Amino acid sequence: MSRFVFFGGKGGVGKTSCAAAYALLCARNHHKTLLVSTDPAHSLADLFHVNIGSEIRNIEENLYGLEINPAEESSKYINRVKNNLVQVVSPVILEEIEKQLDAASVSPGSEEAALFDKMVEIINDYSKDFSQIVFDTAPTGHTLRLMTLPELLGAWLDRLMEKRQHALKLSGMAMRKGHEQKEIMDKDPVLNLLKTRKENLEKARNILLDEKRLRFVFVLNPERLPVEETAKAIEVLGRYGIPVNDLIINRILPENVQVSFWKKRKEIEIFYLNEIAERFKKQRLIKIPLMEVEIDEKTLDQMANWLKPLMEADENL
Ligand SMILES: Nc1ncnc2c1ncn2[C@@H]1O[C@H](COP(=O)(O)OP(=O)(O)O)[C@@H](O)[C@H]1O
Ligand SMILES: [Mg+2]
Repeated sequence: MSRFVFFGGKGGVGKTSCAAAYALLCARNHHKTLLVSTDPAHSLADLFHVNIGSEIRNIEENLYGLEINPAEESSKYINRVKNNLVQVVSPVILEEIEKQLDAASVSPGSEEAALFDKMVEIINDYSKDFSQIVFDTAPTGHTLRLMTLPELLGAWLDRLMEKRQHALKLSGMAMRKGHEQKEIMDKDPVLNLLKTRKENLEKARNILLDEKRLRFVFVLNPERLPVEETAKAIEVLGRYGIPVNDLIINRILPENVQVSFWKKRKEIEIFYLNEIAERFKKQRLIKIPLMEVEIDEKTLDQMANWLKPLMEADENL
């Protein structure tokens, strides 16, 4: 049974670096790990210098990568829906629906739904194969919506199912006996499709909301905006029963800066570090220093070292 670790936070705070470093750490400690990037910026490939795409790829021993491209997933998703429709509606209606679907496929909401569907698929299909599944998620607001979407989608699917049942009844089915009615409903491809989606959704949601299996780690920098955004995210996730136990404060300046410019920056940083300690008493705070160079394969290792407490907490569960 795998654990799911989501790395959230504002763009640029260090999510991809932290997620990759954490995945590397887990892999080197003999946990079979899958690192999933849902960030359209696609920087996993840059970090590991291997092409990672929509198929799971081995990066090194025990470490696997997967990049989800929302636009690509969205068109695949729309095609799946179209194929399903071919079986149930007349060609004339199909043409009309296809037009609508094509219009929908370029809307941002559809990419989000497709991305979410893909995440649901990963959670359901791979949880047996990996001991850690690490998600390098897109910026905060987007991720939050993804996490909270099941409730909306669940209600929406319920409504669609009711509508379909109603339509079936109107199509003369009411004239039939009870057991015949049930048979038609059981065989209806549209109802079955909706039912399967709802079941998958619920399965994934149950996996995610199992406290011992889901961890949500927020990455922030000691600055005003990331602090505010983290507070908001913790509050919203809390409302949906998703706990945030760990915060990574990334890019902390060295202690003994000499130049007055950096002294000033350090003062500001200390102010926010205090504020973070004050506001996030329930969370464990992990600090990562600002490295001299950009994060690459070598510095990733260093970064992984700082994240050890995160993995150990996981192993103790
Ligand atoms: N602790 C750090 N020290 C130095 N550079 C860092 C550190 N953390 C991240 N970076 C750099 O900051 C940039 C943004 O990091 P990234 O992990 O891509 O953030 P995000 O995924 O949140 O947008 C990258 O160029 C990365 O190399
Ligand atoms: Mg990123």
